[in-house]
Amino acid sequence: MLLLNRPVPCPAALPVDARPTRAAAPVAPPAVAVSLRGVRKVYGRGNSAVAALDGVDFDFLQGTFTAVMGPSGSGKSTLLHCAAGLDRPSAGTVRLAGTDLAKLSETALTKLRRTRIGFVFQAFNLVGALTVRENILLPSRLAHARVDRRRLAEVVRQVGLDGQLRRRPAELSGGQQQRVAIARALSVSPEVIFCDEPTGALDSNTAAQVLRLLRRTVDRDRQTVVMVTHDPVAASYADRVVFLADGRIVDDLLAPDVDAIASRLARLGESRAQAGAFAPVREEAFA
Ligand SMILES: Nc1ncnc2c1ncn2[C@@H]1O[C@H](COP(=O)(O)OP(=O)(O)OP(=O)(O)O)[C@@H](O)[C@H]1O
Ligand SMILES: [Mg+2]
Repeated sequence: MLLLNRPVPCPAALPVDARPTRAAAPVAPPAVAVSLRGVRKVYGRGNSAVAALDGVDFDFLQGTFTAVMGPSGSGKSTLLHCAAGLDRPSAGTVRLAGTDLAKLSETALTKLRRTRIGFVFQAFNLVGALTVRENILLPSRLAHARVDRRRLAEVVRQVGLDGQLRRRPAELSGGQQQRVAIARALSVSPEVIFCDEPTGALDSNTAAQVLRLLRRTVDRDRQTVVMVTHDPVAASYADRVVFLADGRIVDDLLAPDVDAIASRLARLGESRAQAGAFAPVREEAFA
């Protein structure tokens, strides 16, 4: 696991005896799971055009958990949809592990989404006619992949859906439906899991379970999680929080705690985005 929640001691702050005598070996930069460069997304035309994303540059590093926060309408869902290849940006580049998504045919992009990306939607997007089990296995079925029964059992246990597999979404509570959506995203062991407010409909205990589950997929399985949330407590499970306003990244917090997140959100509410004011945290901070 990356020790992101621990402050990294600055060499100058160490006692003289503890300072390394030789130059440390260069550390390989962390791999980038998803990279966005100059990403813009404009909905509509002319006077009614809305720039939901207005030039986003960001790297989601492999094996890290990033929370995306910001006011309603700031572009969080649009960012997730573009990063996950569910929506094509109007300009700019999105790369998944180096692959430029714009260069893929629709068929190749669909295959990539089914096998390498998990997505938990703001509205759960479950198929009402299918059982819980069938919903969870839908990505595997669509990808014509063999059903991994052990993985299914593990995911179902992790999200606490044992005994619910034969039920249909309409027979479940909102929280249970959200857990089915999360199980579905995890079922194919994707490289990157995007979650749009995965705990919005959950009580605090169930939310904590889901957040621990997401944290574990990062720490144990080296998966990458990108999660939109309005909740500072949920965001504090992440290694990093990025703040969006008016389609731009305007702030960035490493190893966040609840108080720091809440005060950044309050500050964001006071002053809206200022162009060019954002200086991203350097990647070396993650090494
Ligand atoms: N399909 C669409 N057509 C037109 N405008 C859209 C569309 N989707 C989003 N928008 C607009 O783009 C902007 C960003 O929307 P987005 O859904 O990304 O915001 P958000 O940060 O996820 O908000 P929330 O917290 O309410 O979910 C908003 O002004 C929204 O009205
Ligand atoms: Mg949204």
